[in-house]
Amino acid sequence: MAAATQPSSRAASGVLLLLAVLLAEQVLAAEALSIGVNYGQIANNLPSPARVSSLLRSLKISKVKLYDADPRVLHAFLGTGVEFVVGIGNEHVPAMVSPATAQAWLQQHVAPHLHAGARITCITVGNEVFKGNDTVLQASLLPAMHSVHQALGTLGLQGRVNVTTAHSLDIMGASYPPSAGAFHPGAVSHLRPFLSFLSATRAPFLINCYPFFAYKDDPARVPLDYVLFQPNAGVTDPNTGLNYDNMLYAQVDAVYTAIQAMGHTDIHVKVSETGWPSRGDPDEHGATPEHAGTYIGNLLRRIEMKQGTPLRPAVPIDVYVFALFNENLKPGPASERNYGLFYPDGRPVYNVGLRGYLPPMADSQGTRQVIHLLILIAMASVAFALS
Ligand SMILES: *[C@@H]1O[C@H](CO)[C@@H](O)[C@H](O)[C@H]1NC(C)=O
Ligand SMILES: *[C@@H]1O[C@H](CO)[C@@H](O)[C@H](O)[C@H]1NC(C)=O
Repeated sequence: MAAATQPSSRAASGVLLLLAVLLAEQVLAAEALSIGVNYGQIANNLPSPARVSSLLRSLKISKVKLYDADPRVLHAFLGTGVEFVVGIGNEHVPAMVSPATAQAWLQQHVAPHLHAGARITCITVGNEVFKGNDTVLQASLLPAMHSVHQALGTLGLQGRVNVTTAHSLDIMGASYPPSAGAFHPGAVSHLRPFLSFLSATRAPFLINCYPFFAYKDDPARVPLDYVLFQPNAGVTDPNTGLNYDNMLYAQVDAVYTAIQAMGHTDIHVKVSETGWPSRGDPDEHGATPEHAGTYIGNLLRRIEMKQGTPLRPAVPIDVYVFALFNENLKPGPASERNYGLFYPDGRPVYNVGLRGYLPPMADSQGTRQVIHLLILIAMASVAFALS
């Protein structure tokens, strides 16, 4: 009798423990932050993707944007529930016009990860393609997006992954006041069919917005409180009467206006990059850890409040912060290498003061190890009980 009941009670306790662990993971997942982060890797000193995966889980960041489809990263995050935007670099965009090439790219870089359980919700075809003057690249953007979208269908993945691109704010010809938002005349001919594609496929419009650039260019006239989301009287758009207390929302609404002026009211605008550098060259005004911390901290708070912009108050702003790490190999002014929330060793560059979301990397590894140990114990007791 005793011999017969013992294994089943052991099995029951093992199952209970396993359930407790799974429940704990559910709770962790339920508390995920709404903010996304850009995980750029133009550096030679970054931690391994596995360590980055622990870091992001400890921060409860569950939305990550890549500039490629690095298989090491996608593999390291398997089972974490983290949602990915993956990218096709500008240098590969012209080749993607060929449907066969687009399909081969998806078969190599996306399909295997989706089948393994990765969450890839969006592919950006190129980044800031209209910022430069590469006309070959610009002309191939939309055909490449079509090919990628079609190939998703061929592979049975239609509806699972959005296909879009990320624009620089330079595509705007006018952005102030927001009600006067209009695309640059040079980009309009490209954008018309592009917007039709987004509308037909229900994909979002992605824009990279840096109020820092506006401040840096004209620190005497651009109010710091307005760009840093600090309390201020704001500015009222004379045409709509809407009040803006920060530049980012004004920029997003200018994009909504420009899209609407081209006949679309159904396209969702997301901020695919925004950030503030903690260091810069002597002529890069405002690039300090204090300002960067204020910008990111205030932005995080507003995102967690699920705020919309004045023009779309019911649509919570959807933002990917740039960037996870300082990237030491980025060319350009010093600010370019200092947008990170973290140093490569996992230390936060500044404290954004949000319920201790930025612990040192060693702590997050410890937490993960404890969870793994609990799972192992639970699995061992189940195995033992069933044996
Ligand atoms: C873009 O314009 C710059 C000068 O404004 C020039 O140096 C560069 O070669 C051009 N690039 C392309 C791809 O045409
Ligand atoms: C695609 O983008 C739209 C608009 O932002 C969004 O509603 C939808 O959930 C996205 N699809 C996926 C698979 O994430």
